[in-house]
Amino acid sequence: MLKGKRILLVVSGGIAAFKVPDLIRRLAERGVSVRCAMTKAAEQFVTPLTLAALSGEKVSADLFSLTDEAEMGHIELSRDADLVVVAPATANILARMAQGLADDMATTLLLATDKPVLVAPAMNVRMWHHPATQRNIEQLKADGVAFIGPNEGEMACGEYGPGRMAEPLEIVAAIEMQFGKPLPRHLTLVQPRPANNGVAPLKQDLKGKRAIVTSGPTHEPIDPVRYIANRSSGKQGHAIAAALAARGADVTLVTGPVSLPDPAGVKTVHVEAARDMFSACFLDLPVDIFVAAAAVADWRVAVEAPQKMKKSGDLPPVLKLAENPDILRAISTTDAKRRPALVVGFAAETENVVAHAQKKLGSKGCDWILANDVSEGTQTFGGDSNAVHLVTANAVEDWPRMSKSEVAARLAERIAAAFNDQSKKNLKKGS
Ligand code: C5P
Repeated sequence: MLKGKRILLVVSGGIAAFKVPDLIRRLAERGVSVRCAMTKAAEQFVTPLTLAALSGEKVSADLFSLTDEAEMGHIELSRDADLVVVAPATANILARMAQGLADDMATTLLLATDKPVLVAPAMNVRMWHHPATQRNIEQLKADGVAFIGPNEGEMACGEYGPGRMAEPLEIVAAIEMQFGKPLPRHLTLVQPRPANNGVAPLKQDLKGKRAIVTSGPTHEPIDPVRYIANRSSGKQGHAIAAALAARGADVTLVTGPVSLPDPAGVKTVHVEAARDMFSACFLDLPVDIFVAAAAVADWRVAVEAPQKMKKSGDLPPVLKLAENPDILRAISTTDAKRRPALVVGFAAETENVVAHAQKKLGSKGCDWILANDVSEGTQTFGGDSNAVHLVTANAVEDWPRMSKSEVAARLAERIAAAFNDQSKKNLKKGS
């Protein structure tokens, strides 16, 4: 997959630069040719000689080197690669990138490139959380830069939190994803926001709000090769995550196995079973908005067989089922400190759709329910359109059949309106 690809690796000055030799080695093993550029500060952590020896290429560091310019000018160098990777990316280089500065070789290459850029940030947790850094990251995402990490954990400075650079193999996986390979399930990559192509941007009326959206089916393992699943495609949930992000919300999409790409501008967490989805959602709390669009399996096999089950004797095996956690109910009824201000569930019914949804509003403890008819012939499962009813404590709105992305856009608009409404009581009651 990576064989023959060319990567320009920009190394900035953080302690995580010690992982760069390993990253180069991993890329070289996969047939990638790597060319490095370093900031002055990076040379304090790893020597240009080490990177040159491992990559087999000259390392670019000096913007005003006549010999370098004679061999390959910095504009050519910045475009000679298939992908530019910045690892580690310090808060300082992110700030310089966001500003479009070109005051050394590394930032000049980053400004001159016309290739996709993937960034692996690494910094102290407070620097990561600083509004200036977060602002720069938002800007870079809007400019089309992809991010892998940072990971959470203990830092070289002794503090704990997000800021550790993604591990070399995780960066390799993110690089492979840039070339079309799906990301391993345990990793999250924030895809850049899509370019607007001249279309007026949506009002950023959910800026500052955090949301979790669940999507897709869950796979409940029977043994290492078999599982119980359902026909959910994830189209509706993915569209909702994208629609909330398009209005400026900071969205985590927790998705079961689907064959859809991760939506742009959204942090996507891939899970398999309902219990993994449950933990991933709780890990991301507190949030303002929770939308449960996943078709979570109600039951799992009580005891997963550690080895592939074999045919033996005359009788087929009996699968004993256990109930899965109800994620929507658990989030709706969690302690007030963690409960999202607005919890939206789905109800897929085959008859008495609205009446069942109204009952579900009470039994789940959520604020709104989007109810849809999934009876035979509606082609809602797996299809591209949906006819839903928005059921709140006070009202039922019947929406005409429309595409799943239109349903998502309308829901996002309703959510934004509810949050922007002065009387927050309306959040619970609907309109
Ligand atoms: O109970 P039922 O499966 O009909 O409820 C549907 C709603 O509850 C959906 O929003 C679905 O995402 C959510 N749900 C859940 N966890 C479960 C079952 C359903 O979050 N275990």
